Amino acid sequence: MTYETLLVDVVERVATITINRPDKRNALNATVRHEIIAALDALRDRSDVGVVVFTGAGKKAFIAGADIGEFAERTPLEQREVMQGRRVFDEVAAYPGPTIAMVNGYALGGGCELALACDIRVAARSARFGQPEIRLGLIPGGGGTQRLPRLIGAGRALRLILTGDVVDGEEAWRLGLVDVLVDDAELHNRTLEMARSIAAHSTVALRLAKAAVAAALEAPLSQGLAHERELFITAFGSDDRREGVAAFLEKRAPRFTGR
Ligand code: COA
Repeated sequence: MTYETLLVDVVERVATITINRPDKRNALNATVRHEIIAALDALRDRSDVGVVVFTGAGKKAFIAGADIGEFAERTPLEQREVMQGRRVFDEVAAYPGPTIAMVNGYALGGGCELALACDIRVAARSARFGQPEIRLGLIPGGGGTQRLPRLIGAGRALRLILTGDVVDGEEAWRLGLVDVLVDDAELHNRTLEMARSIAAHSTVALRLAKAAVAAALEAPLSQGLAHERELFITAFGSDDRREGVAAFLEKRAPRFTGR
């Protein structure tokens, strides 16, 4: 499948989705948003894909936010229509397998929100994060007011949302917005290394682990713990659990089948 605004490749069980509008700092226009959803649909059931990595083309931007040009003439009613139906941030968050944002430059507004929708954020030191919507007379609308405080706490999230300040990779890492901070030259290799090591595990267990952690953010503790127990028992019923335990006892590497 080919895309107008994305490059998608799959190597060693890792799919990389590259937003490819470097001259517009990879801003999210309608085509990019629809194509990311289509790409995830195409990857979801592929048994040769264990992890999805998102990144931006060029050296300057991961994603510099929503395409501001699309805002100029839009009425609130039209904006409501745009925001109904499948939304890219929720589709990324709901993708059943592990996702990693490989942040190589500006991750602003919707770009920061797309990174927030991923499971893990790896960033280069030169990356820049922010929710600058306030400067446009707006608020974050791609999950920033909800996912950011859950990830880094309300005070830190509000500082970014209310000031519109842009912080560098080091500060984003200190805030807890970035999980792994690496030198620019190492971003690609370190991220892909991590992605491959995750993708080598059982697909069943990876998806159940992700679902269990998602429950931690939604449910009260007692419900979350009950949910974890059920997912653990589901994992227990998998071929991969039998293979993983047998491989350990036989002192060999497991051969997972994803069943
Ligand atoms: N939407 C639409 N176009 C954007 C964009 C966005 N979010 N971000 C950058 N672009 C476009 C610019 O308009 C410019 O287009 P042009 O060459 O046709 O004039 C091109 O990308 C390059 O941008 P430029 O500002 O010259 O690049 P820069 O490297 O000097 O600065 C940014 C990069 C990201 C700091 C700056 O572009 C910026 O502040 N973008 C807006 C960020 C934002 O507010 N995002 C939240 C939106 S809700």
